[in-house]
Amino acid sequence: MLFSISFFQWVLFVQSMEPFVYDVNLAGAIGDGESDDTEAFKNAWNVVCSSHISSGIFRVPYGQKFLLQPLTFNGECRPKNITFQIDGILIAPSDPSSWKCKETNCNNWITFQHFDGLIIQGTGSLHGQGQKWWQMGCMHNKVSFAILDSKNVHISGLTSVDSRKWHISIERSSSVHASKLNIKAPKDSPNTDGIRIQHSTNVTIASSIIKTGDDCIGIGDGSKYININRIFCGPGHGISIGSLGENGRRETVEYVTVRRANFYATENGLKIKTWQGGHGYARYIRFEHISFSKVIRPIIIDQYTCPLHQHCKNYSTAVEISNILYNDLRGTTNGEIAVELSCSKSVPCKNIRMKDIQLDYGINGKMYDGHPKSHCLNVVQSWDEGYVYPNVPCLTKKLSY
Ligand SMILES: *[C@@H]1O[C@H](CO)[C@@H](O)[C@H](O)[C@H]1NC(C)=O
Ligand SMILES: *[C@@H]1O[C@H](CO)[C@@H](O)[C@H](O)[C@H]1NC(C)=O
Ligand SMILES: *[C@@H]1O[C@H](CO)[C@@H](O)[C@H](O)[C@H]1NC(C)=O
Repeated sequence: MLFSISFFQWVLFVQSMEPFVYDVNLAGAIGDGESDDTEAFKNAWNVVCSSHISSGIFRVPYGQKFLLQPLTFNGECRPKNITFQIDGILIAPSDPSSWKCKETNCNNWITFQHFDGLIIQGTGSLHGQGQKWWQMGCMHNKVSFAILDSKNVHISGLTSVDSRKWHISIERSSSVHASKLNIKAPKDSPNTDGIRIQHSTNVTIASSIIKTGDDCIGIGDGSKYININRIFCGPGHGISIGSLGENGRRETVEYVTVRRANFYATENGLKIKTWQGGHGYARYIRFEHISFSKVIRPIIIDQYTCPLHQHCKNYSTAVEISNILYNDLRGTTNGEIAVELSCSKSVPCKNIRMKDIQLDYGINGKMYDGHPKSHCLNVVQSWDEGYVYPNVPCLTKKLSY
């Protein structure tokens, strides 16, 4: 009967709806920016993770700075939904010699793994303090925030500053939504990608500002159903797919959509890069409603990836690039070649479509009376529609009707 539940049952029911909230200060975190709060964070996590209530909140309060060594949060917990409410500042040790890693995830600063139902939100920030690490070469560098082997993850609101390597890495995960992030590092800082996605499915990145020294967003092997929406990128190396197929590997990326992105003073805009000799594919990729300002190479497909000062051979196999749409792209470039489609001889790019493109030559934001160029190599069965400037000669004009 509907009204037969007792008052006590009702109280228990209401209580079970309330999440369990635990503040890191309760576990002894000092938050003065100098004391090592790693143990306190681990203890606080153990309390939240073993709570009997179905959802838990791990709280990092506003107004304090917490110095943290590498730390892993493992989501194999009793509560199903976990929220990290981060309103304070997290800082990594600035000196590489004071980095203590006893964890398994030594390549990352803060790792979240094996979660199903994770929210990371707040007004707080992560300070990777990468300055001294950047000089050491990227082999030693660490990712600030890594989301590994997880699903149903929402990240929003946070700021990430000066990561040693990538700011945020999403790996072997699915259904991940990241939004309202603010990511920054100097434009000459090496390898400081904003967000790097690999081996992941159904990832959305929206409404974020990314200013870094490397790719704003990098989409690597095994990425599928990736949606990128309303991103401001620059400085940085643009939004990149790849590099795929290094050392003959079979690597794949498909169903990627980038919409409403703004590129300002970036090296590249929309880039797809692969190595010679690889296998696999990059396909079903749409770039739409995008603006560029002071971008050196707005549109680029490069199937001849080769690091500076290395000698790379050409091979008879390549990652296949097909079904790529560029629609409604506008703005200025200060490079000479606005559109570069450099595809493999053995496996040409196929089904590339460009519609309504206008890229003018500009210097310091001012339109300049030069003509940007385009360059094509090994592109087949591809066409343009509407207005495309500069003209891309390897595309067949599709008649409007
Ligand atoms: C977790 O959160 C989701 C969405 O907020 C909700 O639908 C689900 O019931 C929650 N699960 C538990 C076990 O509380
Ligand atoms: C990804 O999203 C699609 C469409 O919403 C859904 O059918 C699919 O099951 C999702 N895959 C994963 C791994 O979450
Ligand atoms: C590989 O092919 C590209 C495009 O034709 C060419 O520019 C490059 O010089 C070649 N590299 C070698 C090592 O032959």
